[in-house]
Amino acid sequence: MRRDESVSVADAWSGFHRLTPEQRLARVAEHTKLSAGDRASLTAASALPRELAAQFVENAVGSFPLPLAFAVHAVVDGTPVVVPMAVEESSVVAAASHGAKLAAAGGGFRTKVDDPVTIGQVELRSVRDVAAAKRTVGRQRKAWVADLNKSIASMVARGGGVRSIEARAVGKGRLVLHLLVDTRDAMGANVVNTLCERLAPVAAEALGAKVGLRILSNLADHRLATATCRVPAKALGGREAVRAIVAANRFALDDPYRAATHNKGILNGIDPVLVATGNDWRAVEAGAHAYAARAGQYRALTTYKADAKGDLVASLTLPMAVGTVGGVTRLHPTAKACLAVLGNPDAKRLAAIAVSIGLAQNLAALKALSGEGIQKGHMALHATNLALAKRKTA
Ligand code: MEV
Repeated sequence: MRRDESVSVADAWSGFHRLTPEQRLARVAEHTKLSAGDRASLTAASALPRELAAQFVENAVGSFPLPLAFAVHAVVDGTPVVVPMAVEESSVVAAASHGAKLAAAGGGFRTKVDDPVTIGQVELRSVRDVAAAKRTVGRQRKAWVADLNKSIASMVARGGGVRSIEARAVGKGRLVLHLLVDTRDAMGANVVNTLCERLAPVAAEALGAKVGLRILSNLADHRLATATCRVPAKALGGREAVRAIVAANRFALDDPYRAATHNKGILNGIDPVLVATGNDWRAVEAGAHAYAARAGQYRALTTYKADAKGDLVASLTLPMAVGTVGGVTRLHPTAKACLAVLGNPDAKRLAAIAVSIGLAQNLAALKALSGEGIQKGHMALHATNLALAKRKTA
């Protein structure tokens, strides 16, 4: 699709919110060529049978449904996408759609996503000479990587595998090895943890050290995802509105109290996509917050500026450890159907979509906050919830 077509693609979804749930589903199913089975999984009162739930977790008694909705108007790297979101909070889906529509007015989101390289940590303690130990790691690296890759032949055959091993001195007498593992379309937690446990005794013996912890790091800064968009000033109501949004972002860059709320709003967009696709949203949350504090002060994950024409240019970068195979992504019937709605993306495309929706959400929030305030739009839906709660407790 050409860039200038994205606005008309976005417009094709105008009025989606006015349809009935049944009509919305029919529209999405038709648009994404959804199978009858997947379609049923999106609406079943409990698409997760108890037997399956009991295979996922211990002590299961049932499942916990959340509202499932679709954000519309998103155009990611030139391709329109309807985005499933599982979330209980009012106005999140509306805000994501609104932000995506604003971005579509400037051609949609452009993304850059790293290869899916996860970090596994092996902590080695009681290292007498850390500098010498680092040199030993340098000499052994190639052999250790080759040996580890032999144990994950199928992942290597799919183009993944251990890429390298880095050594970091952390505190007195402690050396931490970072295994950099390309896990392809799997989130990869289990395989990375297994590799850490395999390497630890070998490395400890070579370095005369004691084995400490062996576990992946959620500060997944080798797998960053960035979304950018340009919103014409006209679409925002003029240059003053652009300046107000830039100033709102500046507040969140300067003040950790504001940054926490600002980044929560970004995750309001991302988490529901991760929940809907069966991903570990806690891992992405942990990575996002650690990354936001990487310079020593907790800051906004976004940057905003006005370009030479006075249009708004927005960008969001964060670690995005997601998968589209393994875990429950294909086992949970609703997650499987949501991935089908997204066109069965690989992990990098899912990361691109999730980071774009995070930026869409933040853009909509900043527009409201720096303009008429958040409560007007938010409270309309919230009032419905309050009325519902009153009825239930009466
Ligand atoms: C509410 O869940 C999220 C917001 O507070 C985000 C923000 O303040 O940027 C509206």
